[in-house]
Formats: sequence, C-alpha cells, structure tokens
Amino acid sequence: MELILGTTPANEIETEALAIICFSDEKPGPDLAGGLPLEIYDRGEFTGKAQETALVHRPFGMKAARLLLVGCGEKAKFTTDEMRKAGGVIVRTLKPKGIKDAAVRLDGGTQPDLMLSALVEGAILGDYEPDRHKTEKKNGDKVIEKLRFSVPEETSSLTDALRRGRVVGESQNYARTLVNEPGNLLTPSSLGAQARQMAAEFGLGCEVLDEARMRQLGFGTLLGVSQGSAEPPVMIVLKYVPAEPPASADHLALVGKGVTFDTGGISIKPSDGMEKMKYDMAGAAAVIGAMRAVAQLKPSIPVTALAPCVENMPGHKAQRPGDIVTSYQGKTVEVLNTDAEGRLILADALTYAARQGCTHLIDAATLTGAIAVALGHLYAGVFSNNELFREKLLAASRAAGERMWPFPMDEDYKEYLKSAFADLANIGGRWGGSITAAKFLEEFVEGKPWIHLDIAGTAWLDDGKPFLAKGPTGLPVRTMVELACRWQ
Ligand code: BES
Ligand code: ZN
Ligand code: ZN
Repeated sequence: MELILGTTPANEIETEALAIICFSDEKPGPDLAGGLPLEIYDRGEFTGKAQETALVHRPFGMKAARLLLVGCGEKAKFTTDEMRKAGGVIVRTLKPKGIKDAAVRLDGGTQPDLMLSALVEGAILGDYEPDRHKTEKKNGDKVIEKLRFSVPEETSSLTDALRRGRVVGESQNYARTLVNEPGNLLTPSSLGAQARQMAAEFGLGCEVLDEARMRQLGFGTLLGVSQGSAEPPVMIVLKYVPAEPPASADHLALVGKGVTFDTGGISIKPSDGMEKMKYDMAGAAAVIGAMRAVAQLKPSIPVTALAPCVENMPGHKAQRPGDIVTSYQGKTVEVLNTDAEGRLILADALTYAARQGCTHLIDAATLTGAIAVALGHLYAGVFSNNELFREKLLAASRAAGERMWPFPMDEDYKEYLKSAFADLANIGGRWGGSITAAKFLEEFVEGKPWIHLDIAGTAWLDDGKPFLAKGPTGLPVRTMVELACRWQ
C-alpha cells in the first residue's frame, strides 16, 4: 500500500473513494455538505457513531467517485485511538469492494502529527489478514494500492508522522505474522533464522545463542523446559546502538517469551483449544517486531532485545513435576508444574539481560491464563519493582493506544512461592496467579528496574473487529517503541 501526503482539497481529489471522519454530534462542514446529501443523517441512516460507515456514490460537485463516511463518535471524545480505528475501518470497508485507490481527508484539528501517525498505523493494521496459509485469500487478489492523505498544509513534521506510522504499523504486522505461524512451521530455530534475517535487513546486531552455549552459561531453568522437545532451544539477542553516543548510561532490554508451542509438558494441557498455544511466543514476536521499528526510528537510547525460545513438549526426556533445576542466576527452582514454563525461560533471559549491562528491563509474556480472568481481553497486566519506571511505561502505553493496568507486587506474595526442597517453587497455588508469576520473575532481575507485561489475554483476538482481523494483535509493539523513542 503506497501512502501519499498531499494538499489537494477534498472536492478536487480524483479517487475511487474519499473517506471523511464524521462525528455523532456534528454534521460535515460546508466544504463537503454540498456533495453530501445530509438527508443521510436526517433520515437516521448514518448517525456518526464509532465505526459506523456509509458509502455515497457520485457525491455532487466532487471528483471522487464515492464518499465514505466514517463514524468516530462524539467529537469531544475523539482521540488518536479512535483515529487509529478509523484507519482500519476505512481499509477494511474499501478493500473487499475492490477499490484500489482511496483517499482520506484530514482537517487541521489538534495534534495533526499524532493523528496522522495513528491513522496510518490503523490503515496498515487493518490491511493485515492472517491468511498466509490459505491458497484462496480472504479478499482474493484485491488490494488497496494507493492511499492518499489530504491535509491543509504539507509540513516536514507531517511527513515524519506518516513515516513513523508506517514503520510502527508494518513492524506490528511483522510481529503478527510471526505469531500466526503454527508450531510446525515456526520452531525456536526458525524463529532465530527469521530474527537474523530481519536484523540483517534493518542493520541490527544479532546473535543466536544455541543449546551448547546456554549449557555452558548455566541456563538451567530454560534448558529444563526445552529438554522434552526434539526442537533445540535458542536465545535470540538483537542489538540496537545509537549512532551518537548516548547522554546517559541507560540501556533498555526488551525480553519476550518465545514458547513456539506450549503443550504444558508432562503437566499437559487439555486438548480443547490447545491449538491456540502457537501464540505462546507472542512476547518474543513483539520484541523482535519492536526492534524492527527501533532500527528505523533510531531512538537515542541503546536497546537490546532478548527472546528465549523453546518448545514445551512432553517428550521422553521431558522434565518431571518435582524436578529441581538451577537457574543462571544461581537460585534453585522446584518445578511443581511443567506448564508454568514461561517464567522458567524468562528467569534465565532476565538475568542474562541484567548481566549484559542492560539497566532497565521490560518483559512481555503470554504468562498466565489468570490475567484474562482478572482483566478480560482488553488490558494487559503491568507488574514492576519500580514505580517511576512503571509510570513511564503506562504513559507510553496510553500514547500508543495499548491498554495496560498495574497490579500490586507486595513482598507478602513471595511467600506463595515457597518450596520445601528448593529456593523457590515455579507456581504459587490457586490465588493471584498472575501476581505470583510476576513475583517469580522478580527474583531474577538482579535488582534492576523492571516491568513485566502479561499479554496472555491481549495478544490474541478471538473475534475480528471492524478495524482489525481476528488472531494476533501484535501487542505490545507500539508501547515498547513509544517508550524507547521518548526516552530522555
Ligand atoms: N502459556 C500459558 C499461559 C496462557 C494461557 C497463555 C492461556 C494464553 C492463554 C502458560 O505457560 C501457562 O500454562 N500458565 C499456567 C500457569 C499455571 C500452571 C500456574 C496457567 O495460566 O494456567
Ligand atoms: Zn504453560
Ligand atoms: Zn506458556
């Protein structure tokens, strides 16, 4: 999809379809009212509520063949989040109709740069379909080839905003593509190969630690998980170093859980719905996707991504409930449930990140089913040992339009993880499962400021939306990129 910025006035744009943003409490202004029969409002056929659309053919006095009205709700409540959705709605409405060339009119308004970035992100995200493995694609060979944005004035900040939106949207879609790959096609090694290829394309450093290297380093909790699978584990390390020497010593680590398939291991999961456990590497995909954007947007802080990747299988060498493993950090762990494997692989990766010189750690993981019990599928859970860092992240998540909610991390919760035979157990009993999982991770961050994002409820969308296909969401790529880019 070619994205073009221009200043041609709405009435003059020659296109198959011109989309305009409409509100429920304000009819389109006089520049469009001439072409738009406002009866469509008066007769109640279009009210302007969020994500509602109407398509008007041959609008009077306009060069566009069609006018697409896109509802965005109340004007006072219109934010970049609503604009992002509008972008998705536009593409997902016009593409199935076989329209190849479309345009969107943007009036000045407040925050024109942020609005344009959000619109572009939304259009790119809305363009994605998880149909890579279908020989007959959802929309056949229909594609929107050209999407133009008509703005009052072409400025360099709008040009930057367009590029930024494109980079972020494409990187998020890249993460979604990885998440959607099934376990037979995406193994730890092939995910390593994908990351290596992406790093070469965008000029990032890349190292893929193999099993022998991880054994040498003593990644005991990670290797305990992978030993039940015929697929060897890897740990992907991607490095971005800013061209200018950074002003501070800060170094951000993005750590992502990469379980390419989670059967549960010997504590095997019920078969119903198990196919979804291909998305248990959504954290890894997100950090790799975020690095793809970081490489292009070039923030001033160094960023390293680490993705521990394993397959959790009940093979004949699988670890058993009751096994005791020794982490890279040195603490011993009694594995009471082999299905609580994410925290075991992240433990070694977090310690490794801290010892590699990263000063601030963020991990993203489809860690617990309990997070969806607490928050549904709307918010990701945020867990941290550092209030200031957590506030920074929450501000970035709000700006990026990815909903996240903080959880308590009182010391008392640590008691839930007591083991009779090792330093820690890998599960904490029935209650507060997302918090005890986070408390487990905290033991391995070596005191560094750290944030854990539990994305088990938000990395996968069970039902499609008018602006987004069902399947992988690509969360939290945007928040991670936003945080890196606004780092001072
Ligand atoms: N990958 C799962 C968590 C998960 C559940 C992700 C549902 C997405 C959807 C994780 O490895 C797991 O199995 N966690 C267990 C932990 C339990 C054994 C303490 C869980 O949530 O049941
Ligand atoms: Zn599991
Ligand atoms: Zn898992």
